[in-house]
Amino acid sequence: MEHLTVNPFASLAYLVAGVCFILALRGLSSPATSQRGNRMGIIGMTIAVVTTLVTHVPTLDAGALDAVTIVEILAAIGIGAAIGIVTARKIAMTDMPQLVAAFHSLVGMAAVLVAAAAFLNPQAFGIAENGVIFVQSRIEMGLGIAIGAITFSGSVIAFLKLNGNMGGKPIMLPGRHVINLGVLAAILGLIAYFTQDQSPWIFWTVTILSFAIGFLLIIPIGGADMPVVVSMLNSYSGWAAAAMGFTLHNTAMIITGALVGSSGAILSYIMCKAMNRSFISVIAGGFGGDSAAASGEAKEQRPWKRGSAEDAAFLLGQAEQVIIVPGYGMAVSQAQHTLREMGDKLKAHGVRVKYAIHPVAGRMPGHMNVLLAEANVPYDDVFELEDINSEFAQTDIAFVIGANDVTNPAAKTDKTSPIYGMPVLDVEKAKTVLFIKRSMGGVGYAGVDNDVFYMDNTMMLLGDAKKMVEEIVKSLD
Ligand code: TAP
Repeated sequence: MEHLTVNPFASLAYLVAGVCFILALRGLSSPATSQRGNRMGIIGMTIAVVTTLVTHVPTLDAGALDAVTIVEILAAIGIGAAIGIVTARKIAMTDMPQLVAAFHSLVGMAAVLVAAAAFLNPQAFGIAENGVIFVQSRIEMGLGIAIGAITFSGSVIAFLKLNGNMGGKPIMLPGRHVINLGVLAAILGLIAYFTQDQSPWIFWTVTILSFAIGFLLIIPIGGADMPVVVSMLNSYSGWAAAAMGFTLHNTAMIITGALVGSSGAILSYIMCKAMNRSFISVIAGGFGGDSAAASGEAKEQRPWKRGSAEDAAFLLGQAEQVIIVPGYGMAVSQAQHTLREMGDKLKAHGVRVKYAIHPVAGRMPGHMNVLLAEANVPYDDVFELEDINSEFAQTDIAFVIGANDVTNPAAKTDKTSPIYGMPVLDVEKAKTVLFIKRSMGGVGYAGVDNDVFYMDNTMMLLGDAKKMVEEIVKSLD
């Protein structure tokens, strides 16, 4: 805006912050560089916050440093940082998806509050002349508040479902597609009208409808698709931040918002592809239910072989190559450290040990990579699905620990299976499969039985993953 004086140092600082965020994303793309990436993110965010404080606090612009405002801001930063530090330290890895959903709801709410503040006091934001808000700002505000409100209510539902406060089952309202399309059309229509008429009722109706559509869009989506939804809401929160960045004339917010928006969209796409689900079918909802409900179904009785930790240790010690396939159960039982110990022992016995990571193993992208990195498993031993799948056929033992869906051959053969088409790890091709899970009744996320349990070359090791591996480690001595 021509009436705003742009501080050249601020622009430069925001540019530097933007570069830091890009380097952070780049660093986070590999476990080896992720800590460096995180540090770049922290540096970028510090630069952005300090620059904003120094140049954008209105009282500072006026030349007089308002101590009360500064104290308020610092107190808010302190409280937020304290909550962030405590939560980050306490949170279990398995609860990470709902934590991310909770954080996104805050980003959404922040966008709503900024848009509301700008609407109520446009002069202070420099987006109005004589009380008339600029048309461009009205569009930014309308979009910001709509995306922010959708992100907020959608993320709250995603949190409740992931946290188990609400059933994971899809809640299907009759005629929901028509209702959703109608509400979305009304929101867009009202934002268009808002450019002509800045009456408060239009602004607040957009807000209320957007809160409602966030809720309506997410309740029909089942638990199984929730991680995709979280990543999609992550993307929305980025676009909401970018829209507000325009309103606030804050380049750092625009850059960050666009980065979060596009990376979230790409991540959602990758997840859909790895689960062989179309993005539209995820949004349309109705897939998946409570795994508890699914496990309650009567299952066909088939013979299977049970082994002990000693049996497993004997077989592992004899093998030339072992491929370890970790999944959600390893995360639940926190078996990664003991698993690494087992890997080290096997290597000492002259066994080649590799880890095979499926792109959607666990409950969030990179879940297994993070846990294995935490346990100091060497990166060179960790392989992605496409790099290792052909090796199972020449492997003595596939050691499946708490994974299920990602090993299910029904994805390749059974057109009626809910996971049909999902790429899976070919564990059944190994000479022997050792399969750790707690019970024969338990099912994976998709709620389907797995033929691998009943194969002649499979030995089921029933028990908690960590305890079982601890016993194997003892028996390896
Ligand atoms: P799942 O198919 O969910 O299987 C987990 C297995 O772990 C189950 O067999 C369970 O059997 C066992 N288990 C649970 N707790 C255990 C414990 N304490 N000790 C030992 N075993 C335990 O896991 P997966 O193979 O990793 O597949 C991931 C699933 O999540 C896929 O369907 C995927 O599409 C879905 N998903 C993932 C993502 C991302 S991004 N990762 C996103 C969306 C959906 P018991 O109950 O008998 O122990």
